[in-house]
Parts: sequence; structure tokens; C-alpha cells
Amino acid sequence: MSDKSFPQSVHGLAEVEQLIREKFTSDAPRLSEVSAYLFNLGGKRIRPMISLTLGQALGISSSNTQLLTISAGIELIHLATLLHDDIIDKAPTRRHKPSAYVTFGSDDTLIAGDFLLSRAFGLCSTLPADIVRETERACVELTEGEILEVPLYKQACTTEQYLIIAQKKTASLFRLACYAAASLAGLSENEKVIISLAGEKLGIAFQVIDDILDVISDEATLGKRQGQDIREQKPSIVNLFWLEEKSEHSKSLKEKNFNLSDDFISVALQDIINGSALSKAKDLAQQLVHEAKSLLYTSASFIKVSGTKEGQFLEFLMQYALERVK
Ligand code: FPP
Ligand code: MG
Repeated sequence: MSDKSFPQSVHGLAEVEQLIREKFTSDAPRLSEVSAYLFNLGGKRIRPMISLTLGQALGISSSNTQLLTISAGIELIHLATLLHDDIIDKAPTRRHKPSAYVTFGSDDTLIAGDFLLSRAFGLCSTLPADIVRETERACVELTEGEILEVPLYKQACTTEQYLIIAQKKTASLFRLACYAAASLAGLSENEKVIISLAGEKLGIAFQVIDDILDVISDEATLGKRQGQDIREQKPSIVNLFWLEEKSEHSKSLKEKNFNLSDDFISVALQDIINGSALSKAKDLAQQLVHEAKSLLYTSASFIKVSGTKEGQFLEFLMQYALERVK
């Protein structure tokens, strides 16, 4: 499946984007500028797509204010994390353009992230208490995931630890998207748990695919430098599986101040491609998406709507998370 087959519109997404833009308003024009810059770089908007699609599959109207609000809130939180993450990673590019951190500097980008997070909480505070609580949980997990992700030269990482980090830094917002849709649809506690867990599995799979794309996708497609996870000596799942192969090159991931030149990165990428790390990571992502789909099908409410347009689209989104190329 190529990204060309990605549907252009999801009911409610245009309204969500409008709601997000309205939240960029500020007495300080610089905050609006940084926020609009990142937003206008584009992006998949997969998190609000999931909440909107699942919500509609479960019978909520596409114009339901609460569904639009949580969808916008989740994307605002995501945007805030990207601003902060690019400072931490010193990322030169994001979505084919200079990152906000490079364009506006780390100080203004940091504050703009705080601004977007505050705006998100303004929006989400209008929602039922359980969704506010889950939003706080997701934000706390985002910070935990980010701080737990320590470069490999500082700390070793097991696959189990990787899964915890990916759950926190990436899957927490997928989980929130699913929880909120299930809650607003009035599902039982048991069904909310099942559907949230499905979101969590999907989110981890999304991160595993991110790690794979870092190796196999070129800059023109991905919009950011290839091999960045090697440069940053990150505990990505591909790097962890590569380390298990004990090749001469992989050892550099654990060496402090190792000079990871562009030539070295090219050789390392080829070494990974020739080994089994990528196929092991793909198997893991497939397993996670399979588990997510199975969980969804243990929800009586979802089974009822699985044949509908929205139900099928949600399944498409899950497959897309697996087969995307950027
Ligand atoms: C991207 O990972 C980073 C995240 C998904 C999480 C970032 C979280 C924080 C910076 C904590 C701040 C939290 C809040 C609530 C503002 P990546 O570097 O692997 O992906 P990338 O290649 O797209 O940069
Ligand atoms: Mg990053």
C-alpha cells in the first residue's frame, strides 16, 4: 500500500484543523508563528483520524463538539511534543523542511511547545472528567517515555524496556484517541479497557514502523535524515535487534563519543539491511497490529459496526500504520 492510497478526508478533520488553528491565537505573535509553522508542515494527522473514525463507527456524529475537541486536543499535544523533541534531538529537519528548532531557535520553540500544551489543556478541560484524567495520563507518559529513552552508550536497553518506552512516548496518544472515542460513545468500562489496549498496541506498532523507516526510507520520502536513530545511538527496535547480531559496526552504538560520520552511517545502514533486524522488527509490528485487531473484535460494540464504512476505515488505518512508507 503506498501513501497515495491514503484517504484525503475524514469527516470532522477539517473542523478539527480549524479548531487547532484557532488555538494558535496569542498576544505574542511569535507563539502563533512557531505553532503555525509546524502545523503547516503537514503531517498525517493519524491521531485525530483515529478518534474521529472510531467515534463515528461507534455512533457519534462527526459534528459532535466533544469528539472534535478531544481530536484537536490530542493533535495539539502531539505538536507540542514534536517541538520539544526536535530541540532534544537537535533535529535539523522535520517533514522536508528545517525543524522549528532550527528556524526559530531552541528558546522560542521550547516556549511554543509549552504554549500548545497549555492550549490543549484549555480545550480538554471542557470534557468529561474521565477523559481529562486520561489526557493527563497520556501527557505524563509522554514525558516518561522521552526521559527513559537514553542513548545506548549511556545505558543498555532490552526489548521489554523498548516496548515500555514506545508505549509511553508514542502509544499513549493513540490509546487516548481510542479511549476518548469509546467513552464519548458511552461504552462499558470493560469495552473502554479493551479498545484502549487496542489503541496502545497500534501505537507501539506505529513506533516500530517509524524505527524501520528510519533505515529503509530516504530523506526525500521521509522528510528527515535517514539513519538518524543510528546517529543518535537511540534504543530503537532496529538498533536493538542489530546489536543482537554482534556485528563489528553495531558495537559503535554503545561507544561514547564515537564519530558517526556520514560514511559510517551509510555502511551501518547497509549492514542492517543485510542482516535480520528489519525483518524481526516487521514481524513484531505485524504481531502488534494483529493483536490490536483481535482486541477490537472482542468488543461487542465494535463487532456491531465492523461492516460499516467507518468500521472498515478504522481497519484500513490499522493496516496503514503497518504499511506506510513515511
Ligand atoms: C518523537 O520520537 C517523540 C515523541 C513521540 C515524544 C516526545 C515527548 C516529549 C518531548 C515530552 C514532552 C511532553 C509533552 C506533553 C509536551 P522520535 O524522536 O523517535 O521521532 P521523530 O523521528 O519523529 O523525531
Ligand atoms: Mg525525534
